[in-house]
Amino acid sequence: MISNEVYLVLFFALLPVCSGATATIPIKRTTIRFKFDDWQLYNEYAGAFQQPEAGHQHPLSRHDQSTFYHILYTTSIAIGNPPQPFTASIDLSWSDMFVPSVECLQDPVTAQYCRGQNKYNSSLSTTYHPSKTVTELMYEGLSTSGYLSQDVLGVGGLVILDQQFEEATFWRSMYLNAAPLDSALGLARLQSRTPASNASTKSALRNMLDQKVLSRPVFSLRLPRRDDESGELALGYSPLEVLAQSAVTLPLIEATPPKELSQLSYYISSGYTVALESVTIQSSPGNNPGGRKPSTYKAVFTNSFDYISLPGTLLTEIQTNLHPNLGMDDQLADLDCSMRDDLPNIVFSFGKNAVIVLTPWDYLTEVRDVEKGMRCVLPFAYLQQADDEWVVLGSAFMEGVYSVFDLEKGEVSLLMLKE
Ligand SMILES: *[C@@H]1O[C@H](CO)[C@@H](O)[C@H](O)[C@H]1NC(C)=O
Ligand SMILES: *[C@@H]1O[C@H](CO)[C@@H](O)[C@H](O)[C@H]1NC(C)=O
Repeated sequence: MISNEVYLVLFFALLPVCSGATATIPIKRTTIRFKFDDWQLYNEYAGAFQQPEAGHQHPLSRHDQSTFYHILYTTSIAIGNPPQPFTASIDLSWSDMFVPSVECLQDPVTAQYCRGQNKYNSSLSTTYHPSKTVTELMYEGLSTSGYLSQDVLGVGGLVILDQQFEEATFWRSMYLNAAPLDSALGLARLQSRTPASNASTKSALRNMLDQKVLSRPVFSLRLPRRDDESGELALGYSPLEVLAQSAVTLPLIEATPPKELSQLSYYISSGYTVALESVTIQSSPGNNPGGRKPSTYKAVFTNSFDYISLPGTLLTEIQTNLHPNLGMDDQLADLDCSMRDDLPNIVFSFGKNAVIVLTPWDYLTEVRDVEKGMRCVLPFAYLQQADDEWVVLGSAFMEGVYSVFDLEKGEVSLLMLKE
């Protein structure tokens, strides 16, 4: 017989464990294929989708007719009570949530674009709060505007109260059919500064932390590496296998983004920067172009950028020494995946005993092309920067590691994935 006191003690002993929650949600990967021209047009003329003026030229014009690939990572979320389901992109850098509103059907042109999406009907939700704030944003091939609303957000069984989001009454998209996303689940730690949105709302992650929804202020990310694989976002805990193994643990550092709004300053502003000593090609000693002098870079984690961006000189050194048949002109190119057997490993040294080695199987992004079949995309691309100190560790890096973001300790742990 167990006495009542013992029950009571057990109850209180277990209480702290139950005071927060955890969730594990699957991540789906989708390769989007687009012509450079279309993407450029979207970025310059989103909303209007006009043709550019005659004679209009942009600097990368030799790529105009090229096909590019972009990787989108999505999961299911729900908004409202009872919950209304949406497909949301999971994004380390992003803050502002949005969903198409049922009102998008009222305008015939917008209706054409939003018909295929999940749509939010506020009159079906008992927890909806309106606001009159008008917002507009551009995100992943979408261009929207509407007004801010507030409702309950559900993510893998977790309940986040009063999530603000743009209820989009205007909706345009560069996708031929329905867009593969209705919304975004922002994982920005800090308020991200993007020129592409004026909503300035708290990210879903920020709300989870502020409302102490999670057992611990921790999340981990395993991005799928192929479209037919499933990844995982663990909220409130780090999976045991990561803790048990020898992960590289790095402190997050405070980093002030450059003043001007740019893609780089947007990624930096979300709050996932660490110090990085060197990026080198793994080869015989004395034959290492990037490895002469370790200097200190600042490296930003993001999964909304597909590539790894390096300071200009370092990028040239690495890209031109990667393979005798490849040079700078091959930036952004997709190759036959058999190239993986010939390419070297790339070494990211974050400090003493803090080294991540990516093999070509990790850093070449695998995509499936409707015409060409399986292709492997080179990992490097250049993002404009004034002071050569920034490295952006986008999806080409993030897909190669299991990453754990511990926001209580202010550190990131990276674990190399085994084949
Ligand atoms: C939204 O829900 C209300 C309440 O059920 C319904 O009357 C209305 O028709 C719905 N709106 C649309 C556009 O479906
Ligand atoms: C966002 O921009 C739109 C269009 O310029 C404007 O109407 C709206 O008031 C802006 N919203 C905020 C919150 O600044």
